[in-house]
Amino acid sequence: MYLPTWCNKKIDSENFVDIPKWKNIRISIKGKNNNVSIPQDMRGKMKIKIHGNDNKLIIKSSEDLDVRVTISCSNATVEIGKGTNISGASFTVFENNSSIKIGEDCMFSKDIEVWCSDAHSICDKEGKVLNIGKNVEIGNHVWIGRHCYITKNTKIADNSIVGWCSNVTRKFDEPNVIIAGNPAQIVKRNISWRRERPQNLLDEQQNAE
Ligand SMILES: CC(C)(COP(=O)(O)OP(=O)(O)OC[C@H]1O[C@@H](n2cnc3c(N)ncnc32)[C@H](O)[C@@H]1OP(=O)(O)O)[C@@H](O)C(=O)NCCC(=O)NCCS
Repeated sequence: MYLPTWCNKKIDSENFVDIPKWKNIRISIKGKNNNVSIPQDMRGKMKIKIHGNDNKLIIKSSEDLDVRVTISCSNATVEIGKGTNISGASFTVFENNSSIKIGEDCMFSKDIEVWCSDAHSICDKEGKVLNIGKNVEIGNHVWIGRHCYITKNTKIADNSIVGWCSNVTRKFDEPNVIIAGNPAQIVKRNISWRRERPQNLLDEQQNAE
């Protein structure tokens, strides 16, 4: 099913697509029982390609989004929570039953790749597959810096920051941390972050004293 950008709320016999009218969304779906839901007041642009069955792409954010989503498998989920903005990211899901879930109020910079799979197999000498990809979980209020890579089977907990040019390769369950580097490690604990520029926030705090 190829949908032009002007369509909205289209239910055909095979897929359910609820996307805003006249927005910059390019979408192509091959398969059945896929569910795509994007709020009517979404901003920015999206390119969506789904090949497979029973997949879900659920966008709850109405903030600026510049996002490319590729799902090439079945029963996978990609979710972007309320209040999250994304200046340039690509989400790729290639393994059945896997998911990329991004919480609320996150801030993604540009040139970010999130992959739920290595796309090709690593096997042991007997041929047993060693690198099955499952989920990527990003909590609430997480800031991902520029040029980051987030790979399969990873987690970034609430209120955390990923430093620029980092490669996140494992689960970080501890909230309020800065993780950075390749492979990313915790470089600071007990932090929080705000969207304002540091000098503006400092001025605001000094004026309030
Ligand atoms: C990660 C970041 C937030 C850290 O800022 P900070 O709190 O001032 O941290 P510091 O500069 O004190 O660095 C702490 C440690 O992490 C290391 N570090 C910081 N950023 C790093 C990075 N991107 N990769 C690897 N190590 C990094 C520092 O070398 C330092 O190591 P040390 O303790 O061994 O000396 C900042 O470096 C960053 O990457 N910001 C992202 C900016 C961005 O992408 N903006 C785009 C607009 S959304």
